[in-house]
Formats: sequence, C-alpha cells, structure tokens
Amino acid sequence: MQVNTLILGAGAAGMMCAAHAGPGVLVLDHAKAPGEKIRISGGGRCNFTNLYTGPENFLSENPHFCKSALSRYTQWDFIDLLARHDITWHEKTLGQLFCDGRSGQIIALLRAEMARAGADLWLQASLAGLSHDDQGFRAEIDHEGARRTVRARNLVVATGGRSIPKMGATGLAYDIARQFGHSVTETRPALVPLTFPEGRFSALSGIATPARVANERTSFEEAVLFTHRGLSGPAILQISSYWREGEEITLDLDPAGGLLAALREQRQSAGRRNLTTELARHLPARLVDHLAPGLPAGNLADQSDATLAEMVAGLRAWHLRPGGSEGYRTAEVTLGGVSTDGLSSRSMMSRHLPRLYFIGESVDVTGWLGGYNFQWAWSSGWAAGQAI
Ligand code: FDA
Repeated sequence: MQVNTLILGAGAAGMMCAAHAGPGVLVLDHAKAPGEKIRISGGGRCNFTNLYTGPENFLSENPHFCKSALSRYTQWDFIDLLARHDITWHEKTLGQLFCDGRSGQIIALLRAEMARAGADLWLQASLAGLSHDDQGFRAEIDHEGARRTVRARNLVVATGGRSIPKMGATGLAYDIARQFGHSVTETRPALVPLTFPEGRFSALSGIATPARVANERTSFEEAVLFTHRGLSGPAILQISSYWREGEEITLDLDPAGGLLAALREQRQSAGRRNLTTELARHLPARLVDHLAPGLPAGNLADQSDATLAEMVAGLRAWHLRPGGSEGYRTAEVTLGGVSTDGLSSRSMMSRHLPRLYFIGESVDVTGWLGGYNFQWAWSSGWAAGQAI
C-alpha cells in the first residue's frame, strides 16, 4: 500500500497534523481509541490552550525553537477552530481554557477535521519495522491480524513521550529519532508530584494552601496540596519540571505578603489570642499544628516585633528537600525528547532526512501546566501539516 504521509500516533499532535497534511494520509496508533490523553485531560474537560501562551512558557535546550510554530498557529487559531465546531469554553484561572462540555468534544472535532481531509485511521495497529530507501519510507504494520507493508513519501512521528506507560506511552519516537541519526536529550518525568520520605506529610494529607514555590531557577505561585506521599498541586507540578534530584525547594506560605502586618495589627486588638490560634486564621489549622513545635509559644501580646518577623520569615522560606518524584506513572508530560538541533523550527522536518517529521511531546519542547502542552501539539502538528 502506498500513501503520501504516514503519521505514527493518533494523539493531539498526530490528529492535528493529519487534518492539515493534504491528501493521502494514514494515521496509525496502537491504542483502541485516538486521543486518549485528551479524553482524560483537565479532569475530563481538557485544558486545550492558554490565553497567554508564549515561548517563555516552555522548557527546551533551545528556548527559541518553539517560537515559529507557536506564532504561526496560535491559541486564537485553535479557539477559532472550536467556534467553527460550536464548542463552547470558559477560562478557569491564569488564562487556562477548558471545554464547557466534555473533552470528548475536542476528539470529535479532530476526528471530523481528519475525515474532512480524507485521512485514514488504523487503531490497534503496531509498527513492526521501519526503513528508508530512495523511494521513501517503508513501514511494516501489524493490523487486524495481518502484517502489511505501507510505503510513504512522508513520515510524521507523533507518538508522544514516556508519561503514563499504562496509557500506552512508549519510547518509540526516540528509537526512530536515533535510527535516523537524531540525538535525544535527557528525558525526565515533568509536571509530576514530588515525594518525601515515608510519613513526612501524611498528617497533612488533603490540605491545600496557596504558596509560592521556588528553586534557584524559577518560582510559581499557585496552590500546593499535601498528600500521603508528599506534595502535589499546581505549584508543585510546575516546579517539578525545573527540579533535579537532591535539590531543595522553598515554600512561601504567605505569598501575598500580608501576614506580618496582620499579626501586628491583631496583637493590638486581640493580644490575648494564642499565636497559633491567630495563625490558623491565615493558614490551614492542621498545617499550623504541624508547624507548631517550631513556632514561638504564648499569646500575640507576648511576641516582640523581632520574634514575629523571624517567624513569618520562616513561614515564607520553608526549605524542603524532596526525595524524588512519582515518576512517569503519573507525570503529565515528559521533559526533553528529540533534540531540536536536528529539526527545522518552521516545518518540524528533520535536518538529517528530508520528509521525516517529529511533532508534539516527542520533541524537546515541554510546556508549563495550564494548556501549553496541547497548544504545542496543535502548533507543531499544524506546522508539519503545512510543510507537507
Ligand atoms: P500523545 O501522548 O497525546 O499521543 C501519542 C499517541 O501515540 C497516543 O495515542 C499513543 O497511543 C500513540 N503511541 C505511543 N507509542 C506508540 C507506539 N509504539 N505505536 C503506536 N502508537 C503509539 N496538556 C494540556 O495542555 N492540558 C491539559 O489539560 C493536560 N492534561 C493532562 C492530563 C494527563 C493525565 C496527562 C497524562 C497529560 C495531560 N496533558 C495536558 C499533556 C498532554 O496530554 C500532552 O502533552 C499531549 O497529549 C501530547 O500530545 P502528543 O500528540 O504529542 O502525544
């Protein structure tokens, strides 16, 4: 069988590319259904883009690489596409856009766009062999109980990263990249909860509190969630992409910065109130209990300015050293991937082998939490589709 373009992976990037790559497209995926990560994303409502998407929201060895695709297929282009399919949405927080309905609407949209473009989709299909010669690519594909040979002029690799192996994530993109002379940067679980030695926060499990979480490289102000195994919540997921084993993170439990002034004011009007009772009006009570052994004893009136200032400084710089992360089992994305050195940022085409493309999460471009990773899938998939 001969096709113009074979796309490996019917996820966000692969389906987007299939809708824009012109005639003669075949998409294959080993899963039972396309877009499984879209389906479960955003708590079932898919945080499909972010209003403020820009290159600064992405990590890569080459921070400039994502600029071209992101600027040519923007968040507004995807929002327009939703409008054409009558899909309504809302902004939750920080520019994060979610479907009003279920995330299946986005999968249906992509399937409709693929059908409009005449793209074929083979599910539960696996790649048994791949080679290249002067007639193009030759793929051996196991599908519906038979092995078929598919010849393709263009090959697009859109099989994503390593996150959530249970959902079918594999390292196929990296293997293909190496096969054709590309380098792959170090890959790590990212947007992932951080773990601490057994029991460290189990008494606090379930507590969420706003915080600024920082390391030497960056900081994020969002909610932190204490869990049986450690720390989670958006601020922790964000910093996890910048964290390395052995490093400390610092939690500022008073990110708005009003605590010291509030305590001094209360000392005037309610001096007999116990300090920890007062603190529990600003922070979750169970967290205050946990921290209490390290806090000054007594009433507000007993505390000098210096004591209050020192205590608040401690709450604003709580140094913690995670033991590890939850790993690919729960990581939302994979940091790193196919090196951008070997790819055109305009077309996502290989510099080593013409007509070979890598898109989406397989590439060393990783977004923050908040819709950025899907926007990269749409933009990079579109860019490759246009080039084909
Ligand atoms: P994606 O992983 O979507 O697709 C790859 C496809 O390739 C899959 O269909 C897979 O089955 C297939 N495949 C893999 N190996 C194969 C092989 N060997 N043979 C055949 N097929 C193979 N992002 C965001 O912006 N907003 C959000 O709300 C969320 N939420 C979210 C929740 C959860 C739980 C996760 C795990 C991830 C998110 N993300 C997210 C991240 C987002 O899902 C991710 O960045 C994109 O799906 C990446 O799109 P790709 O198309 O590159 O890979």
